[in-house]
Amino acid sequence: MAFVLSLLTALVLVSYGPGGSLGCDLSLNHVLAGRETRNLLKQMRRHSPHFCLQDRKDFAFPQEMVEGGQLQEAQAISVLHEMLQQSLNVFNTTRSSAAWDTTILEQLCTGLGEQLADLDGCLQQVTGEEDSALGRTGPTDAVTTYFKGIHVYLNEKEYSDCAWEIVRLDIRRAFSSSASLQERLRM
Ligand SMILES: *[C@@H]1O[C@H](CO)[C@@H](O)[C@H](O)[C@H]1NC(C)=O
Repeated sequence: MAFVLSLLTALVLVSYGPGGSLGCDLSLNHVLAGRETRNLLKQMRRHSPHFCLQDRKDFAFPQEMVEGGQLQEAQAISVLHEMLQQSLNVFNTTRSSAAWDTTILEQLCTGLGEQLADLDGCLQQVTGEEDSALGRTGPTDAVTTYFKGIHVYLNEKEYSDCAWEIVRLDIRRAFSSSASLQERLRM
């Protein structure tokens, strides 16, 4: 029995291994939508970075963890899911509409929403549950904390143009970091 169990465990581990062989294959469209998100965030730029130097801040995105290739599939999906949800919480707001070109902003939010819907399905497949909170672990919490810092900062800076600029830049970097996770889930 013990042998059978460990054999089963080994099989499960193999099928959960890197590469998303469990069945959560992100479509090419999803990856392209991610690229589009990074492009839109780039297009939104309004100031030269030098102009806002004094407002710079390190929000401590967990970059090494995201780029390190150590996350399990469910964790990776959960991290991406949290990034999309939290980015919507930042950009799909009246504060944000007041600060940015609304046409680009709408495109950005629509794209984020579509990718989020994609990942909902994925997360359910991987955890086998309706409750997508199950994939949530330390890495996801680190992303949540990162976005909490962003909200606190925007609030402190009273949503100034420079504060938005710094935030836009940082979130764009975060999405560049996470592109490797997306690629991995596509394999
Ligand atoms: C943005 O917010 C509005 C209202 O709060 C909501 O109806 C809409 O679904 C949100 N858009 C996305 C893409 O989540």
